[in-house]
Amino acid sequence: MSHVITLLVFIGPLLAFGSSEDETPICQILGSPEFPLLSKEGVVMIGGAFSIHSKITQPPLSFTEKPTRLTCSSVNLREFRFAQTMIFAIEEINKSEFLLPNISIGYRIYDNCGSTFTSMRAVMALMNGDERAVGKSCSGQSAVHAIIGESESSSTIVLSRTTGPFKIPVISHSATCECLSKRKDYPSFFRTIASDLYQSRALAQLVKHFGWTWVGAINSDSDYGNNGMAIFLAAAQEEGVCVEYTEKFHRTEPEKLMKVVEVIRKSTARVIVGFLAHVEMNDLLEQLSLHNITGLQFIGVEAWITADSLVTPTSFSVLGGSLGFAVQKANISGLEDFLIKDFWETEFNCKEKTETPCKESQDLMELKDYDDDVTELRYSSNIYKAIYAVAHSLHSILKCSKSQGCENTVNVTPWQVVESLKQVHFTIKNGEQVWFDNTGAAVARYEVVNWQRGSDDSVQFKPVGYYDASLPLGQKFVLKTEDIVWPRGKTEANIFIDNSNDCHKCPEEYWSNENRDTCIPKNVEFLYFTEVMGILLVFFTLFGVLLTFIIATVFLINKDTPIVRANNSELSFLLLFSLTLCFLCSLTFIGRPTQWSCMLRHTAFGITFVLCISCVLGKTIVVLMAFRATLPGSNMMKWFGPAQQRLSVLSFTVIQVIICILWLAINPPFPFKNMNHYKDKIILECALGSPVGFWAVLGYIGLLAVLCFLLAFLARKLPDNFNEAKCITFSMLIFCAVWITFIPAYVSSPGKFTVAVEIFAILASSYGLLFCIFAPKCFIIVLKPELNTKKHLMGKTESN
Ligand SMILES: *[C@@H]1O[C@H](CO)[C@@H](O)[C@H](O)[C@H]1NC(C)=O
Ligand SMILES: *[C@@H]1O[C@H](CO)[C@@H](O)[C@H](O)[C@H]1NC(C)=O
Ligand SMILES: *[C@@H]1O[C@H](CO)[C@@H](O)[C@H](O)[C@H]1NC(C)=O
Ligand SMILES: *[C@@H]1O[C@H](CO)[C@@H](O)[C@H](O)[C@H]1NC(C)=O
Repeated sequence: MSHVITLLVFIGPLLAFGSSEDETPICQILGSPEFPLLSKEGVVMIGGAFSIHSKITQPPLSFTEKPTRLTCSSVNLREFRFAQTMIFAIEEINKSEFLLPNISIGYRIYDNCGSTFTSMRAVMALMNGDERAVGKSCSGQSAVHAIIGESESSSTIVLSRTTGPFKIPVISHSATCECLSKRKDYPSFFRTIASDLYQSRALAQLVKHFGWTWVGAINSDSDYGNNGMAIFLAAAQEEGVCVEYTEKFHRTEPEKLMKVVEVIRKSTARVIVGFLAHVEMNDLLEQLSLHNITGLQFIGVEAWITADSLVTPTSFSVLGGSLGFAVQKANISGLEDFLIKDFWETEFNCKEKTETPCKESQDLMELKDYDDDVTELRYSSNIYKAIYAVAHSLHSILKCSKSQGCENTVNVTPWQVVESLKQVHFTIKNGEQVWFDNTGAAVARYEVVNWQRGSDDSVQFKPVGYYDASLPLGQKFVLKTEDIVWPRGKTEANIFIDNSNDCHKCPEEYWSNENRDTCIPKNVEFLYFTEVMGILLVFFTLFGVLLTFIIATVFLINKDTPIVRANNSELSFLLLFSLTLCFLCSLTFIGRPTQWSCMLRHTAFGITFVLCISCVLGKTIVVLMAFRATLPGSNMMKWFGPAQQRLSVLSFTVIQVIICILWLAINPPFPFKNMNHYKDKIILECALGSPVGFWAVLGYIGLLAVLCFLLAFLARKLPDNFNEAKCITFSMLIFCAVWITFIPAYVSSPGKFTVAVEIFAILASSYGLLFCIFAPKCFIIVLKPELNTKKHLMGKTESN
């Protein structure tokens, strides 16, 4: 047997162009080709990829030589049966006079060892064949007309993503991931099983049917488990089923599995929905029996509910009474006999109880009680259907008929097979109809099975109902509750729901406590006056106000000195006044937002800042005008005297006032409880009302600031009193920088920190203006009074 089961893995199913003498490129495989596990030549070729081994070991990589072969171990008889079923169906069609008459059908079956990596190699080999030179040119003709496989969704995704660009049809017998329904991504994918879309929803209905509204959920961390669980959770929410926990793990993560077991042990939910592949279920089962966690009601999916590998002497105490959806059994006459006897006889030319006994297959036969294993042929019938679907589509492409035979000359392209598969509709010999819907899947038909003990104490998967999506509404789902046996022999289903009937969603402003038995109010978050951040911000605000007062006092005391007089004292005092307001307006941002504080916040901020910048703008214009005025023959000062200065400040500010009034009148800001961003807290914030209003206010300030900056920049080299223009340029630079950095912080996630950032921006820009414009003058007034003379002022101007 070993020569069959030994995996033949070679390096390099890659293609390369070589150049021959006559300059025709030759398509060649780099490295050695990969050989199929089982194969037979035929005119029509069908490929297969199954994980006949389920474990793979990667020898350590030295990176100094060609990596050695991967070793596969642990024979998976279930998958091996799939390969056998494939051969059975092919031989049956080969013999048939009706289907593909006189056309021999061959097969190539590869083993992927349960790994997506080896899967990839198998796919390459299926497409390229095992000849070293693939042909004179890379024609794109694949070695097989269609591929059957694989069992797991993740490997199937690898398979169909790879073959997709070459339009080679892939038909899976058990990959149920809803993700494979996307026609755009998988245009040549078909399956003789339904997508999980139906099963996940049916699971939620099943749980709901028994009144189990408090359940736990566990899934394989794979495409299959994650997609299926996502659909289940959405359906469960619709049905009003509460999910206590959702946990996931992958077969390669034992630590995560231990965590899952711990969660199950601590949880109160007695019903567990397991969206697991049978490998993960096996691992979980092992751990649960080890920890004596029994008596739970498991709800299973088609991947494990009828998996005979789960039936062990101890497993019934954990899984007894489990309910779940199973792929419908199909009675295909002859298949059982073939699987048990005929296959071994024909493949290995041996017969039991004859002169050449099946020595070679002996070890495999003994590996497991093979004969007992065959009763659950659920997926095998899907393989049977898949092979027949390929045969029927080729039959129609080759225009076969019983009397005329087939048009053997037609060169069949993979895409023709895909198109033909979309149309097939046939009946297999047990009377079941087969066709593919527009996503390439079969219609959803499940049996509801229940783990029970038979009269002989063996574990049986007893059918207790069915789900058939093709039936009219109301007849789709039928359950015979009286036939169900519950875990630990309980007689009623509602034994599991002691504390879950009153499970309900907490009101919006509440969330559940740690034990999930009461609703507690969510924390309300806003920037408090009493918290450290609030106190700090208030301190800096008041410090700014104090500083402004001190400067104003210094200016007032020295109001007759040249430096104050020369710097248009009226504008300076107005600027100091508006800076005080700027500082103070930051206080409106702290504390619980109310209707008034929300309206006040942005409008007060908008108006005081515009007032402030208009003053600075006025000062800048004065500097520009003053320079003009010194030129002979110009009388510019007349055009921008104190009256004009006042008027311009007033008109700039009035525009902002009008914007604010419009904003408040049309759609004013209002306090808002934001519950969308965090589960456990409510953010109390001021909604903008009209975002247009907010950005108009901010934009107008920005416009004035930029204008001011540009003018000051132009004037920065003009001779003026104490380089006022330079100071203004610098202050505007700071101002713009602060507000530009504020915008990204503002539009990102909301919360009290955003408010704090806004206050910070207000304070930083106010301090910036205060220091840049007034500090140099205060310095001269207080520390260098000898410079504060008319003579010096004049001299400075003249020297320039
Ligand atoms: C198909 O039938 C031909 C003879 O008609 C035979 O040589 C070939 O081995 C058969 N193939 C399979 C897969 O049974
Ligand atoms: C499980 O139960 C068996 C007997 O009932 C006992 O021997 C074993 O120690 C238990 N294991 C644990 C982990 O509790
Ligand atoms: C399957 O069908 C055969 C005849 O077609 C019948 O003898 C057999 O009892 C059936 N088996 C089951 C399990 O229905
Ligand atoms: C099939 O082949 C056999 C023998 O080669 C021949 O007698 C028969 O007519 C063929 N049938 C068809 C439908 O071509």
